[in-house]
Amino acid sequence: MTILDGKKISNDIKDEIAIDVQGMIANGEKVPHLAAILVGTDGASMTYVNAKVKACEKIGFNSTLIDLPEETTEAVLLEKIHELNTNDDIDGFIVQLPLPKHIDEQKVLMAIDPDKDVDGFHPTNVGRMALDLPTFLPATPFGIMELLERYNIETSGKNVVVMGRSHIVGRPMSILMSQKRKAGDATVTVVHSRTKNLADITRSADIIVAAIGISEYLTGDMVKDGVVIIDVGITRVPDETKKAGYRLAGDVDFASVSPKASYITPVPGGVGPMTIAMLLKNTLLARERHQAAK
Ligand code: GUN
Repeated sequence: MTILDGKKISNDIKDEIAIDVQGMIANGEKVPHLAAILVGTDGASMTYVNAKVKACEKIGFNSTLIDLPEETTEAVLLEKIHELNTNDDIDGFIVQLPLPKHIDEQKVLMAIDPDKDVDGFHPTNVGRMALDLPTFLPATPFGIMELLERYNIETSGKNVVVMGRSHIVGRPMSILMSQKRKAGDATVTVVHSRTKNLADITRSADIIVAAIGISEYLTGDMVKDGVVIIDVGITRVPDETKKAGYRLAGDVDFASVSPKASYITPVPGGVGPMTIAMLLKNTLLARERHQAAK
């Protein structure tokens, strides 16, 4: 069993990007600038956004964090988005999800200029992804594709089961892995909360992408020997033995699944760090396109 070390691969990618940034600085060029909007004080979202900003600083990008209170109105948020859309210094930006319930998420995502949408959530970019056109791939699926590619995991003709149909992970994963591309050419099945005989389907999988958001749902009896496991889940599970009062768990029961797996991502240290690295990669790409358009 091989651990798919997302932390190491993400550090490799960040090192590669940092070299590009050094080149830009040496040439007196503008470095990439990422902005992030966070609304409210959700603990996990604050952690993720801070990690994204910190990663920018580490590799030499400019970053701006716009921290708005929970009670921010949709109109104020849309105004902020408009400001970022028209600010020529910002190459790309994200609005951290989930948003407070009084804000229409889809309306917000549609307000982002597709050319600055480094999360790849705008319908234009989702459509471009589905049609295999140049776009910004959503960071988590992009990170998983990169991880599969860098570990040379064969996906062509393999049975892939994607667990979950979210707009952020499950749906794009199912599209990307079925496409004619690196880490693609797979036969993809999407399973979800209405699926019947789910364990029969997962037992037939060569590769499982678990993204359902239920901690330790996938157990050893639901997989075959030699399976490749990508665990996207990250949930805080109460644990009094930990100083923080919780531990982080994936959607996969690592203890029972890992002995049967050929490759498996750990939680934490698997998919999570890749998401951040690919967001930086998208920001680099946004800057390139932005400069070329001038
Ligand atoms: N919430 C969970 N994952 C993501 C992500 O990739 N981007 C944003 N903006 N919010 C998220």
